[in-house]
Amino acid sequence: MTVKSILDQYHQSLNSLYSKEEITAIFYRLLAHYEGLTRLDVSLSPNVKIDDNKLLKALSLLKKVMPWQYIIGESEFYGINFKVNQHILIPRPETEELVDWIIKDHSNFQNLSILDIGTGSGAIAVSLAQNLPDSKVSAMDISKEALAIAKQNAENQNLDIDFILTDVLNLTKLPKYFDIIVSNPPYVRESEKALMHQNVLNYEPDNALFVPDDKALMFYDKIIELAINNRVKYVYFEVNEFLKSDVEALLKYYNLNNYQFKKDFFGKWRMLKIELPK
Ligand SMILES: C[S@@+](CC[C@H](N)C(=O)[O-])C[C@H]1O[C@@H](n2cnc3c(N)ncnc32)[C@H](O)[C@@H]1O
Repeated sequence: MTVKSILDQYHQSLNSLYSKEEITAIFYRLLAHYEGLTRLDVSLSPNVKIDDNKLLKALSLLKKVMPWQYIIGESEFYGINFKVNQHILIPRPETEELVDWIIKDHSNFQNLSILDIGTGSGAIAVSLAQNLPDSKVSAMDISKEALAIAKQNAENQNLDIDFILTDVLNLTKLPKYFDIIVSNPPYVRESEKALMHQNVLNYEPDNALFVPDDKALMFYDKIIELAINNRVKYVYFEVNEFLKSDVEALLKYYNLNNYQFKKDFFGKWRMLKIELPK
């Protein structure tokens, strides 16, 4: 089949699920993965014929709203290629902005020790270790399947990261001193499920995303308590855009006044940096 005729099939089959631009972008991402062909290659040889097997199999999964990242088992984050599977959350562009904030704040510091809580694919831990090469990064998760993928992602970049299998909610103290804690914890309330896409609800792990409505800030509360008790210097969080004022109330409760919220690229309150008292 020609590339163009497969692309047409993609558009016909997926137009109720994705926009035209999204379908084209997904198609070329899969084409690069399976056939090593770029959009430029195709525009230079529009009638090139390819083996359609894998692309049509992928199309049948896309029709069942499976995210393309799980289909090919890869996703990009902060310029790094990550292995992904259904045990971990697909890393999001807004989390890249959080990582970028930390790197910009700390690129002139040396020997930092950093802990990523709820590491999932290892996206935050790996990109920090890669871009702050003098630092020592540790990464924690409750899921051993997630840690297995995160370890693989660290090894693929030749990075030495300490992985810790633990439930942070049951921790009373941190395993060692850290200068910085970063976390993108589960923060979507159960009641927000109605606002979410089927591809997230059907395929991404519940325990990476959701918290009970009446305990929406349980991870923030626990992590701030651990940070204060262990004299951590900075905490960076990804936050729920709808819960900024609740998080602010929590900061007041802990008497923390030196903090900054930041909006993401989409204009949503998404990031928080706290500088703890010395
Ligand atoms: C929103 S995902 C973030 C994944 C990754 N850091 C990222 O930004 O793409 C939250 C992660 O927290 C982990 N998690 C959930 N409950 C936890 C707990 N009680 N203790 C430690 N990690 C937990 C999940 O397994 C998941 O990997």
